[in-house]
Amino acid sequence: MSTRDLWNKYARYFNAEEGFIFPADLPELDFYKQIRKEYPGICLEIGAGSGRLASALQSPSATIALEPSDSMLAGWAESDQKLAIRIQGTGESMPFRTGSFPIVCFPYNGLQCVPEEEIRIGIIQDAYRVTAPGGVFLLEVSPIFARRDSEELTERYCADLPDGTRLLLREKVERKRNPDSIKYHMFYTVIKNRKNTTEKITLDLAVTSRNQVIALLKKTGFCNIIQWGNYDRSPYDDELSPRLLILAGKEK
Ligand SMILES: C[S@@+](CC[C@H](N)C(=O)[O-])C[C@H]1O[C@@H](n2cnc3c(N)ncnc32)[C@H](O)[C@@H]1O
Repeated sequence: MSTRDLWNKYARYFNAEEGFIFPADLPELDFYKQIRKEYPGICLEIGAGSGRLASALQSPSATIALEPSDSMLAGWAESDQKLAIRIQGTGESMPFRTGSFPIVCFPYNGLQCVPEEEIRIGIIQDAYRVTAPGGVFLLEVSPIFARRDSEELTERYCADLPDGTRLLLREKVERKRNPDSIKYHMFYTVIKNRKNTTEKITLDLAVTSRNQVIALLKKTGFCNIIQWGNYDRSPYDDELSPRLLILAGKEK
């Protein structure tokens, strides 16, 4: 299944989770607001989804939101649509001129949502190309996936949504080594007027270590690489950090 097809299917559940079932991650939003103050020029967000970060990334100069999935693009709230220019496309072949953006970002494990290594390499290369000389590329990855093991099918939540439906998620994690991969098999059941429908979605995530991502960024040409272990900009620790935030520069 193509990226676009997968996210077209997954969008309604992802957006229900991120916008309603799970509380907004305020430190994450503050982190992106602060980054935007420090890099106020025109910004590109790769894999912008349904605009969850649009208000955090807004600034007097424009934000371009690049996203492959029709359903994710259709999910933008009207108020967020005013905060960014939405463009449909993928990170590996971006419809922008070389050196266009002083800041490019790929938040929330977006890179790991691309299971094919050659496409991930293509995204990093194209991010380098569109970053302006002296600009930065910011990405978030989760090395925690590498530490996860397989998990049996269990119920993760059952929630009543504002549209009157009930959403139930059962999930099974399939972890394989050699080659490294992690698959989330998610069974979403929508209950409406006592009728149930279940849809299976499999999210195939890339297991990438910190060293692999840093090596790829350096090989592509990025320099002055800063690494943080959380949104408070604490130093990265392989065992303890919940995430890895990387700010990579492009020479002037
Ligand atoms: C985990 S979601 C994050 C969405 C949004 N940035 C957020 O924080 O809510 C990852 C997004 O990356 C997009 N994506 C997947 N493959 C992509 C690719 N090759 N190029 C650009 N975006 C991609 C997906 O469609 C999805 O919207």
